[in-house]
Amino acid sequence: MLTLNAVTKSYAGPRARQVLRDVSLSVGDGEFVAIMGESGAGKSTLLNLIAGLDLPDAGSVVLDGTDLSALDDNARTRLRRHRMGFVFQAIHLLPHLTVSQNVRLPLDIAEMPRDQANRRVGAILEAVGILKLANDFPRSISGGEAQRAAIARALVHEPQLMLADEPTGNLDREAAAQVLTLLREQVKQRAGGGILVTHSGSAARTADRVYVLTQDGLAVQTG
Ligand SMILES: Nc1ncnc2c1ncn2[C@@H]1O[C@H](COP(=O)(O)OP(=O)(O)O)[C@@H](O)[C@H]1O
Ligand SMILES: [Mg+2]
Repeated sequence: MLTLNAVTKSYAGPRARQVLRDVSLSVGDGEFVAIMGESGAGKSTLLNLIAGLDLPDAGSVVLDGTDLSALDDNARTRLRRHRMGFVFQAIHLLPHLTVSQNVRLPLDIAEMPRDQANRRVGAILEAVGILKLANDFPRSISGGEAQRAAIARALVHEPQLMLADEPTGNLDREAAAQVLTLLREQVKQRAGGGILVTHSGSAARTADRVYVLTQDGLAVQTG
């Protein structure tokens, strides 16, 4: 479903260096994959390339047969909105919208009919255990609850690919474990596949396959 072929990326500037070197990766249908690596290893850079927010210097990122480098900015934006879902460490719920309005955003973008969208939003809020918070605003819910809302928002439009960048980085251990269980379960139910970026070994163990990103590239974790 997703394939990266020998992706290379450098940033220009005073501290210029090659961040990604010959990174190859594939995520099959139904797979939930983790990418581990030290801070600064290039994990977020890699996710940005997969999301089409940035383009590789060499190599390709191919989603379901489409090379992202071959698309113009508008087409990449459309593909990202319709076929991807995102969960970040900083949760990014919009403060002036309720939980259910936040979760609904991808369906509004897709112009889904109202009744159908209502049903979808209700079902996913129930699945992630925050239906009772539907009409609350983000400021009045906990970090763990907010991350559940963000997971619901990332998956409500049933994207091909879910991308999560350190989704439990700001949560205590118990909330983190719950959020990860939920994330994995919801990706399996509602997305084509998912990538979890994390520096936490216990988080990575929830994945079907674990990669490690270093200066030398990306390798499957062994042992
Ligand atoms: N937009 C940018 N311009 C220049 N350097 C960047 C940029 N984004 C990230 N970097 C550098 O690239 C390296 C990898 O960053 P990042 O992908 O954020 O790592 P990680 O997410 O694994 O912590 C770091 O050294 C960082 O300073
Ligand atoms: Mg990062």
